[in-house]
Amino acid sequence: MPLINRRRFLRAGAGLALAPYAPAFAEYAEDVPRSPFGVASTAEEVTAGIDLAGKTALVTGCNSGIGYETMRVLALRGAHVLGTSRTLEKGKEACAGIEGRCTPLVLELTDFESVVACAKQVQALNAPLDMLICNAGLLFRDHREANGLELHFVVNHLGHFLLTHRLLDQVVAAPQGRVVVVGSKSHRNAPDHGIYFDDLSGRSWSTSAYGHSKLANGLFSIELARRLKSSSATSNCLHPGSVETNIFRHAERSINPNRYLKNLAEGAATTCYVATSPTLARVSGYYFNDCNPEEPSALMQDLDMAKRLWEVSEELVRDYLA
Ligand SMILES: NC(=O)c1ccc[n+]([C@@H]2O[C@H](COP(=O)([O-])OP(=O)(O)OC[C@H]3O[C@@H](n4cnc5c(N)ncnc54)[C@H](OP(=O)(O)O)[C@@H]3O)[C@@H](O)[C@H]2O)c1
Repeated sequence: MPLINRRRFLRAGAGLALAPYAPAFAEYAEDVPRSPFGVASTAEEVTAGIDLAGKTALVTGCNSGIGYETMRVLALRGAHVLGTSRTLEKGKEACAGIEGRCTPLVLELTDFESVVACAKQVQALNAPLDMLICNAGLLFRDHREANGLELHFVVNHLGHFLLTHRLLDQVVAAPQGRVVVVGSKSHRNAPDHGIYFDDLSGRSWSTSAYGHSKLANGLFSIELARRLKSSSATSNCLHPGSVETNIFRHAERSINPNRYLKNLAEGAATTCYVATSPTLARVSGYYFNDCNPEEPSALMQDLDMAKRLWEVSEELVRDYLA
């Protein structure tokens, strides 16, 4: 189909044009509004003038790095931020430095009882959840497991899958709830065949377990977007950039001198932009980098794999679902 006709066809489909899971032939995100922000924009700059008073956000991994800066800036703009960390002490310490309203919660993503307990505390607030930001993550070079499953898969994907599952009603109850998944460009290092459905223990894997988990983040996000289609809630995934944080404490970082290394203020910008920008109110199922949509790998747009991952993930945490 000639380009001009394709565009007309997409526009005629109204909401269809904002759904990457519908028109397979659309150029990636061609109808998603572009922002004036870029690689060096900060979280404060991208949220300037946005009033989050009366809104509630949950940020996982609030005690360090991108999660801390995300919590700080959302609270600065008036949101009540529920910040999770692995211990209450870490959460209290993080919240102590915040200007605005912040409540520490405990969340250990390898422990599904802890995920359920955290979700129950949020449910007890009996309030809509405007922003659910799945940010916590880890990076190791060696092989580790939790619950018989590869560790990155559990922490970066499965724990967040369970948390989101349990909190989804509250996200949907918000006027325009948003689930924001902090993925990574490293999803491009996932195995060529995608998710290792046949062996999630990681013992037989030969490729990046971190990249595998980040592919899972993106697939989770697009399948969630599909499932939220009839609601006002959205789901998007992002790469925060290459950011100097604690995540590299267990794994030596490969230094690419041509890559712009972001500070924390810049590293939290895309998360805060995707979580708050009024221009993205109807944008769902996309992947962002530097505050603008960016086409992810073909694997990360594989709708069948996304659906299968959702079903397998549900099965893995079946005993902990509501
Ligand atoms: N930094 C980068 O260049 C970069 C690039 C691409 C994507 N990302 C993504 O950005 C996100 C934030 O990472 P960051 O760079 O800000 O790293 P960070 O400073 O190490 O922060 C990670 C957070 O996740 C928490 N966490 C780790 N394991 C956990 C577990 N089992 N249960 C609950 N929480 C856990 C950490 O808690 P503790 O402090 O207690 O360990 C910490 O609060 C991650 O999803 C990461 O994959 C980062």
